[in-house]
Amino acid sequence: MSTSTSWEAFEERIAAAASLSDIEAIDHELFGRKAGAMTEALKGLKDIPNEEKKAAAQELNMWKKKFGEMLDEKKSELGGGSSEGIDVTLELPQKQRGHHHLIPEFIRQIEEVFGRMGFDTAYGPEIETEDLNFNKLNIPDDHPARDGQDTFWIKGVKNTVLRTHTSPVQIRYMQEHKPPFRMICPGKVYRKDSDATHSPMFHQFEGLMIGKDITLANLKAVLVTSLRELIGRDVEFRFRTGYFPFVEPGMEMDMMWQGDLEDSREGKWLEMGGCGMVHPNVLRNVDIDPDEWQGFAFGFGVERPLMIKHQIPDLRSFYEGDLRFLRQF
Ligand code: DAH
Repeated sequence: MSTSTSWEAFEERIAAAASLSDIEAIDHELFGRKAGAMTEALKGLKDIPNEEKKAAAQELNMWKKKFGEMLDEKKSELGGGSSEGIDVTLELPQKQRGHHHLIPEFIRQIEEVFGRMGFDTAYGPEIETEDLNFNKLNIPDDHPARDGQDTFWIKGVKNTVLRTHTSPVQIRYMQEHKPPFRMICPGKVYRKDSDATHSPMFHQFEGLMIGKDITLANLKAVLVTSLRELIGRDVEFRFRTGYFPFVEPGMEMDMMWQGDLEDSREGKWLEMGGCGMVHPNVLRNVDIDPDEWQGFAFGFGVERPLMIKHQIPDLRSFYEGDLRFLRQF
C-alpha cells in the first residue's frame, strides 16, 4: 500500500495545478477505475491484517474525502465545474474579423452626400402593395411596363409584391409630406433576374424633389454633382430619352466603364437608372396640384455605380460574403 508521503505529493500537485487538463489528469491518476492510486489502495484494504485495517481505512477515507473536495474546488476555480470543463489554456485558432460590407457603406455615403444638398432620407417596406408599386405610379393593370418588372408576387396575399423598385416610397412620402421637399430613399428591391449584371435582390436609391420651379436642369445638376462625388473621380455620363410611366419627359442615365478593368467593357456605357420630371398623374394621385407644383425623380442602382467605382466585373461578388473580396474596400 502507498505510503502517506505519496498522498501528500498528490495534495501538493492538486494545489499547484494550473489548468483543467492537469486537474483531470490527477483525478484520473487517483480515482481511475483501473489503476487509480486511491482505487487500488481501497481495494488493497482487504489484504491488510485485521488489527491494522481500521486505522488504515480511516486514513484512506480521510484522504479520499479531502481529494474529492480539493478536486471539485479546483475544477470550479479553473472554470470546469464538472468533469466536462473547458480548458482555458487551449490555444484557439485566431478568430477571423469581419469587414463592413461595401453596399451599406455606400448607402451611408449616398445619404450623406444628398443630405448635404438638403435631401431627407426616407425608407419604405420591401413587401409592398400592388397599388403603390404600380397603380399610383401611373402603371395601370394592363400596362406593358408591368411585364418588364419581372415581379415576385406574394403567394396567398392578394395584390402584394416584393417591391420591384424604390419608386413606391415616392408615393408614401408624398402622401405624408406637403411640398416643397427633397428626399432620397435607399433600399432593397426584387426582380426575377440573374446574371453578371442582374440579381434577384439588389439595391436602389430613389430621389424626389418637388417645388414651384424645379426643372430638368436641377435634376441634371443634382445627379452629376452627387454621382461624381460618390464615385470619387470625373466619370463620364450621358442622358438618353427613356420611357417610364411615372415621369414625363423620362431619361436614362449611363455611366462609362473606365479604369483598369482589362475587359471588353472598357469605354462602354452601363445604365445607372432612370429619371425625369414627375408625371402630373402621379402628383394628382397623391393630391398634389400639378399646376402649382412640379419636380423631378430618379431611381438608380446602388451596385452599378459601385461596380464602376471599384472596377468590379461581376455583380454577384457583392453577395458571396467572401472576406477576401470585402477586405479590399
Ligand atoms: N423605378 C425605375 C426602375 O426601377 C427607375 C426609375 C426611373 C425611377 C425613372 C425614377 C424615375 O424615379 O423617375 O426601373
